[in-house]
Amino acid sequence: MTAPAKITSGPRHVACIMDGNGRWAQARGKPRLFGHHAGAQRVKEVVRACPSLGVKYLTIFAFSTENWKRTQAEVAGLMKLFRRYIQAEARELLAEGVRVRFIGDRVQLDPKLVKLMDELELLTSVNDRIHVTVALNYGGRDEIGRATKRLALEVSAGRLDAADVDETTLARFLDTHVLPDPDLVIRTSGEARISNFLLWQSAYAEYEFIDTLWPDFNAACFADAVRRFAARERRFGAVPA
Ligand code: IPE
Ligand code: IPE
Ligand code: MG
Repeated sequence: MTAPAKITSGPRHVACIMDGNGRWAQARGKPRLFGHHAGAQRVKEVVRACPSLGVKYLTIFAFSTENWKRTQAEVAGLMKLFRRYIQAEARELLAEGVRVRFIGDRVQLDPKLVKLMDELELLTSVNDRIHVTVALNYGGRDEIGRATKRLALEVSAGRLDAADVDETTLARFLDTHVLPDPDLVIRTSGEARISNFLLWQSAYAEYEFIDTLWPDFNAACFADAVRRFAARERRFGAVPA
């Protein structure tokens, strides 16, 4: 139970709220989707920077459960971008040792996209060099709600005793059950909010709110954030020795 009072090493798991694509495009007089395409190009660069920085797990927020509120054209454009991106990058991700996982509710997604997601997860399941998790139709509250429902079904079926339910039980039902908690959460675009991202898992994450818009966020910005993390003192509620 007792966590170390101080960790000065780098983050093992970094999570990114990739925000600012729309504003980046608008500043150039372009449609918002132009910014989403530019943003998608940055992902590869950040993934490639991970191994040398000691980052084993990278989780990226691609589409939230609230993003359906956007125009039909933007949502459709994003869904098409996700499909294209998976098809275009699958081979390279496999070759570079990336294991890809998706978190979020797949039920509302286009079956064609879900098939590509399932195939990419299976294809890259042999990899262990870097674990990239894409949050797609993901919301922290939605995830906790779905986990609670599954847990309740286990109890009602008699497979789980309600008296044994504690925080570790619930964590086993979350989409992230195989992942460690994030050590560092980065949000680009200057907004200092978490917008329903990894609510449960980020209980003790360090946060970095960075003004740069996501399509301008490069490997150097990522490396700077990772290095700043090393200077932080994590206490996990304890008094430093
Ligand atoms: C983040 O960029 C990408 C998604 C939410 C899909 P935004 O589209 O939110 O860009 P801004 O915040 O409007 O600039
Ligand atoms: C969070 O960004 C979701 C993603 C980056 C996918 P939003 O742009 O949707 O968040 P809000 O609306 O500014 O809080
Ligand atoms: Mg935004």
